[in-house]
Amino acid sequence: MKKVVVFTGAGVSAESGIKTFRDSGGLWEEYNVHDVATPEAWAKNPALVLRFYNERRKQVMEAQPNEAHHAIARLQEKFDVCVVTQNIDDLHERAGSKNVLHLHGEILKARSSADPGLIYPLKSWEIKLGDRCEKGSQLRPHIVWFGESVPNYELGVSICSMADIFIIIGTSLNVYPAAGLVNYVKAEAPKFLIDPNDVPASQIENLTFIKEKAGKGMSELAGKLLSGGVLA
Ligand code: OAD
Repeated sequence: MKKVVVFTGAGVSAESGIKTFRDSGGLWEEYNVHDVATPEAWAKNPALVLRFYNERRKQVMEAQPNEAHHAIARLQEKFDVCVVTQNIDDLHERAGSKNVLHLHGEILKARSSADPGLIYPLKSWEIKLGDRCEKGSQLRPHIVWFGESVPNYELGVSICSMADIFIIIGTSLNVYPAAGLVNYVKAEAPKFLIDPNDVPASQIENLTFIKEKAGKGMSELAGKLLSGGVLA
């Protein structure tokens, strides 16, 4: 079975109603990243940080996977598929993708602010000030903030380096180290990039740019891959 690695960013969830970060109207236009998504922000104003992520969590819980998430899951009928995502939502999993690696954490989990090994699934949308881990420390969102290391990066490198086919969807390729994963994919592996806007990707070898929204672009590509129309 050929290995398909799908590398996703916020754009894959845009048609589910979840805002991207850097598009016009994106989250980083509304919020200053330094106020809500750094360890310094957490030290200075944890209530604001919790409120920002509580809002994100509520939106994710109300959202549904879209056609792109479903099309990616369908690839499993014929391929060994691994999704490597920068997204913190669970829409890939809810669409049925079995192997999903989250580079930037998971919004539906909390973790201890003292012991990163203590991670808890959340049933409600809210983490409150005063919610504590079993060792007595305040719970924080299970999110990788700017300035923190990306614990799943090495695993991401090894997954991407094994790809026979590599699909990039809905990422501005702005944030490192995540964006650097494309450099570990074999030069000869066919690569597809689905995004309705231009993305700086001229250095990526063997790339087909599909200038479409994720739902349409991924449905069509999945159809071709599954029918053997391209490369299967
Ligand atoms: P960005 O907001 O930087 O980029 C979103 C991309 O999605 C852009 O290239 C858009 O053109 C594209 N896009 C918009 N609508 C789309 C649609 N319907 N279908 C397909 N693509 C669409 O988001 P990311 O690249 O994911 O990190 O951002 C990377 C990281 O920066 C995030 O994981 C987050 C953020 O700050 C952390 O919070 C640590």
